Amino acid sequence: MGHFHVAELAVAFWMAKDFHTRFTCVYNGKPGDGGNVLSHNIWTEENVVFTIILIITYFLSPVGLTIYFLATRTYFQQFAASQPINWRNPQNLKIKKIVSAVDYRLLFKRTIRFDDSLPDNLRTFYRFIRGLIGGFLGFIVLGFYAIYIVYCLIFHRKKTSAIENSPRWPPASVRAHTIESFWHSIITPIENRDWLWKVKSYWLQICTFILFAPNGENPFALFRAMQHDFAESLGEESTAGFFPFGDGVGVANYKYVKAYLQSRDPLIMKDFQTIGWSVSSSLIKYCESNHIFLPNPSHPMPDHHLLSRKIIHQWLAAFPHTLKNLHDSCSERNTATYRYLTRIVPRHPKSEANKEMIYLAVGETLFFLATGGSLTSDERDAYLDCVKNPFTFLPDWFNFLVAGHYKENIGYESYGKFQAAFARHAQGPALQAAFEAAGGKLSKSEVIRLVTMAFCLGAAPAPAKLTADIVHRLWSDQSDEILAGQDAYKQEKMVDLFYENPRNFIKESARLYTVLPMVSVLSNARIANDVKTHTGADLPANTRIHCSLTDANRDPNEFTSPDEFNPRRSAIELGKIITWNGVESDIEGKNKELRPPRYCPGHDLSILVMKFVASRFAPVMISRNQESQRSMQVNGIELMSLNSLVKPKLYVENSLSDGKSRHPDDEESEIVIVIRELYTRTHLDVKTEKYYLSSLDGYTRLIIELSKLALKGWNAKPPRAIDIAEPCNLPTQDLHLKRVDCARYVATWDEDDQNRWHCHTKLVNKILNSAFWPLEDHELQFNSIDDMIAWRWKHFPSMPSPNNPQWCGDSDDLMSRFAFFGLACHHTRKLDPGMESMELHTATLTHSILKSAHYVNDMTALSLFAVRAPFDRYGAAAYFDRERRLIGIYLSHRDELVMPMSHSCGLDNDWTYAKYMWRSSALAEVTIRDHLLTTHFIESNTLTNVSRQFLPAAHPLRIFLKPFTYRTVTINYSAATSLVNAGGLCHRIWGFEYDEFVKLCDYVIAHYRFRTMPDWIPDNMKLKKNQQNNYEKENVNNHVIGENNEKSEHNQNNKVHETNGVSDKNQSEEWVKHYPIAEDLPAFWNIVRDYVRRFFEIEYGKEESKEEEKKGTMKSERTFMIEPCERRFIAELCKPLGLDGIPSRAHLIDVITQLMCACTGIHEHVGHVGDYLFDPSFIGTKLRRDLPSLLPSVQNYSLMLVLTVLTAMKMPGLMEDWSHLIPRVATDNHEDKLPSIITEEQVKSHLDNYYLFKHQLTERMEKIDKRHRMPDTFPFQSFNPSFMECSVSV
Ligand code: HEM
Ligand SMILES: [Fe+2]
Repeated sequence: MGHFHVAELAVAFWMAKDFHTRFTCVYNGKPGDGGNVLSHNIWTEENVVFTIILIITYFLSPVGLTIYFLATRTYFQQFAASQPINWRNPQNLKIKKIVSAVDYRLLFKRTIRFDDSLPDNLRTFYRFIRGLIGGFLGFIVLGFYAIYIVYCLIFHRKKTSAIENSPRWPPASVRAHTIESFWHSIITPIENRDWLWKVKSYWLQICTFILFAPNGENPFALFRAMQHDFAESLGEESTAGFFPFGDGVGVANYKYVKAYLQSRDPLIMKDFQTIGWSVSSSLIKYCESNHIFLPNPSHPMPDHHLLSRKIIHQWLAAFPHTLKNLHDSCSERNTATYRYLTRIVPRHPKSEANKEMIYLAVGETLFFLATGGSLTSDERDAYLDCVKNPFTFLPDWFNFLVAGHYKENIGYESYGKFQAAFARHAQGPALQAAFEAAGGKLSKSEVIRLVTMAFCLGAAPAPAKLTADIVHRLWSDQSDEILAGQDAYKQEKMVDLFYENPRNFIKESARLYTVLPMVSVLSNARIANDVKTHTGADLPANTRIHCSLTDANRDPNEFTSPDEFNPRRSAIELGKIITWNGVESDIEGKNKELRPPRYCPGHDLSILVMKFVASRFAPVMISRNQESQRSMQVNGIELMSLNSLVKPKLYVENSLSDGKSRHPDDEESEIVIVIRELYTRTHLDVKTEKYYLSSLDGYTRLIIELSKLALKGWNAKPPRAIDIAEPCNLPTQDLHLKRVDCARYVATWDEDDQNRWHCHTKLVNKILNSAFWPLEDHELQFNSIDDMIAWRWKHFPSMPSPNNPQWCGDSDDLMSRFAFFGLACHHTRKLDPGMESMELHTATLTHSILKSAHYVNDMTALSLFAVRAPFDRYGAAAYFDRERRLIGIYLSHRDELVMPMSHSCGLDNDWTYAKYMWRSSALAEVTIRDHLLTTHFIESNTLTNVSRQFLPAAHPLRIFLKPFTYRTVTINYSAATSLVNAGGLCHRIWGFEYDEFVKLCDYVIAHYRFRTMPDWIPDNMKLKKNQQNNYEKENVNNHVIGENNEKSEHNQNNKVHETNGVSDKNQSEEWVKHYPIAEDLPAFWNIVRDYVRRFFEIEYGKEESKEEEKKGTMKSERTFMIEPCERRFIAELCKPLGLDGIPSRAHLIDVITQLMCACTGIHEHVGHVGDYLFDPSFIGTKLRRDLPSLLPSVQNYSLMLVLTVLTAMKMPGLMEDWSHLIPRVATDNHEDKLPSIITEEQVKSHLDNYYLFKHQLTERMEKIDKRHRMPDTFPFQSFNPSFMECSVSV
């Protein structure tokens, strides 16, 4: 039989080779990982499939081969490479290295453990074996412990008396026995300690550990019980809080804890930061050079730790951002801090956030304050690990038992990631200050490691967990049941206490929840004396003394009712709290010399950060004064009215203002909305909810759950700009384009989402699109709008808060707003007087009332397409007079002109219906045409696919465009497979027959004409056409077609109007007030265009004007876009956009600018539909004239909300920092340096260009904010850069 297997091996070998040469799915690149590794041993789904085939081949080669051949024709076909791949060295296809800013020397890691020095494979093997042995021994130990429990239960049963609140596990008799034997072990004089003693002491440590572990989160009860048991075993009333614990003696008494921790007596040695056991020896080594947590008496410089403290203090003092005085002044720095932080820590006012979200908020805030940068997704995972993984603090023997140091190793990897994260910011002020403080005594990499240590050990677990505890406290009296009664609003709540004095609230929480339960010192004569007084035993020298902060903070001799949470304690008592390794009143003392010697340097910082984060996650607080009491009685609908919004009667305490004047950027609207919801929300009782649920079809139910899941995962860790990796050039450059109905071509391979295991998403798609779920339109309606809000609150908790909360109600006024500020405002145009006939489906202007029509918003295009019974076709146009008042609505497919009640004899219902119909047609048309098809499937798709396919990864333009294409492939692909497909979300939400929907898409795509953004608004609505003065200002639209580009330099930043007369300025200001898009849209365009133009100037030099060219003053710079790949890129760009060619540089700049704007500004404008769905009666997607109510059905409302929450999946913000993508000149001596085309000067110019771009965007943002602060301004946020994302989301 043997020879057969040899043959099969050969076949398998051939197969593997064949597979590796032919299919790109074998390889998986991780471009972000510093080394740009391209590997082919990652278990992706495809590799698993192939391996299964291989195994089959080995056992049954004919079958295996057949399956393989079939698979290459079907399943693997989509991954076929265009050229054979050099499978032994796929690195030849790898990315040219883009050197990031990190100095590699700073990443130096110490080898702290034996296995660190082993080569990779050996190390894995070693760890594996060690893990097996450790795990095995761990089980044996647990077995012994079980025997021990039985032993204690039998022989020591009656030893203890019960005390209240004693922890349930382990049994009291086990505890008592452990303590008793332990005490004997500890007081054994050193000379009597033999190996037997040692074994026994380890065993007892294990026993205490097992006692401690289940009570780790809140060990207070355990500590109390242990003290009680101990006193009892000695036959005494009490032992003044001394008790055997861990590997030494615990101290519970406030008096002693304070004395030991704050002693300046040099004989009291501070010991490693521990909970009761010695820390792992690797941690000691890891900290060796810096001594932060441990003054080492045997070190050549015993007071080395003072230097470390100095470095940390200076580092903290030099943070580039601070939360202190955040609201005192609006200086630029504060605003920048605030802007960034409010973005990365979005308010979570509806429900208690989950713990991980809070942890990450604390970590990201701290890291941002320290560096001004953000954490990558990997680093955020590392932070969570630092918070949750205490294993580096645990002794070696214990770590060994946990699968051979398995968890500990993960901990060190996290520290390494943070070291790299800090190294990215080595040039920042904080680290520079730290380097300086080190004064040459520590090397730079040592300082970075010290800072990393302080961050990972100090700034991770304690503040994160404490904040989560505070937030939990804030929500503890907010549950649905409590809030159900109206009276509940009158009672004082935790939130009220919090805002009354956040610092005290935090301190009091920290008193009861000491995250760090114990701090250790080593015993000296004085301590031994204390112990002897109370227990009668002699303590050997240098025994570990574990000062229990937990107990000290609840000492009844110091605090009145110590177990009660009371932030209104007297200042004296609050000053006694001893959580930050020192007494509060001493830590906050003015005189730095007199502060406790080892108090936590992060004290102030952590309180500020916790205050900030807690206020972001706090429920909203409503002041309980007379007036607000009254306004609470108002019924829900009335509160929905516009009036109560603009001038909210409810006084809202703002999180950070501390009662002082309000910071201009506080998002009041967000709070107002939540309050509105809180009051309008009725409690949806179980029966009604069931009733609604039962009316849903399977598809809707499934997709509600799925969207909930997806959102939860996504929002917990949304991508940040720093996560955008440099482009990569894997063999999969082909992108694997796929043709889909309604969407032309979409790519299926995304360099930004190389999900190892995308099986589940595919599966979900398959299930959703399967025939299980026939398309059914269910009619059941909600009983009331209140129910709709309650439903939304319950099932769509992640519904984003609107940027503009005013789309409520359906007054005619609001309709005018909708036409001039809403998502379809770019379709509103002036009617030219002489115009006889309008387009295809609009009313003839002969109707008398329309004589006065001055503007129209024509949303009739969709009336061409048939809908399912019993719905009405879409299509309506709204007419406005010169004062922009709504005067009539034309319903195109009935050819009917509806007028407001006063003008027509029809029923009021008709008018309401017409308005609703027009709004809904606008939503349908804008969403399907402008958003899905134009922005997603044409423009963003083109930018992404063409740049990825035809520009090599290291091409500057490809890198430049990268942020604007981030994850676009994934987004568009999922839109193609779950939105626009048959039975997809769009098909279900809107009423079209699927055939008609396909036709509609074809129609839109066929009618697509490339326009630059300024032309998105009709000519006669532009700013220049609406200034009285006929001053010719051609360059208002700084764009190409037919214009001389040089002029544009004169009018950057919208300073256009300054030269014009005052009246002109007023005129245009007036117009902007009525039609803000006329200003915002070209202004945004100009900023982006300038950014692109400057980019090309840096790369290819300034464009020579014709004369200079003739004179022959051509510079030596590269010729503009002349390389074959560049030419190809341009040619390919034209195809999907329907352009005949791009004749000049200015044209190219325009096209690229337009595509970038589509992904950012336009996408925000047409894609942010959540605002319009906030009032459930505002807009709909299916029209029924035959029903009395216009409200969407339960099913349809749910589907609309699914679409909305999907759009809430955030992409990195446009204002975030992606400067890491700008290639640098190599500083390291790695071999593959960048091609020398990049010079220092160019790097600097690129950075400058980038910062200028950001600066201009910030100015824009401020300008828009300023406009909104003016009285009676209706918000228009579509082109506000602070809301934009840098690439398209759903
Ligand atoms: C709620 C928040 C915090 C609490 C309750 C807390 C508590 C403590 C405690 C009890 C110690 C003494 C530990 C020991 O020596 O065994 C300590 C030390 C320390 N903490 Fe914090 N800490 C907090 C936040 C921070 C933050 C945000 C940072 C810094 C960035 C920080 C940096 C440090 C450092 C560097 C030490 C070592 C000081 C030394 O050994 O001399 N801590 N902290
Ligand atoms: Fe979108």
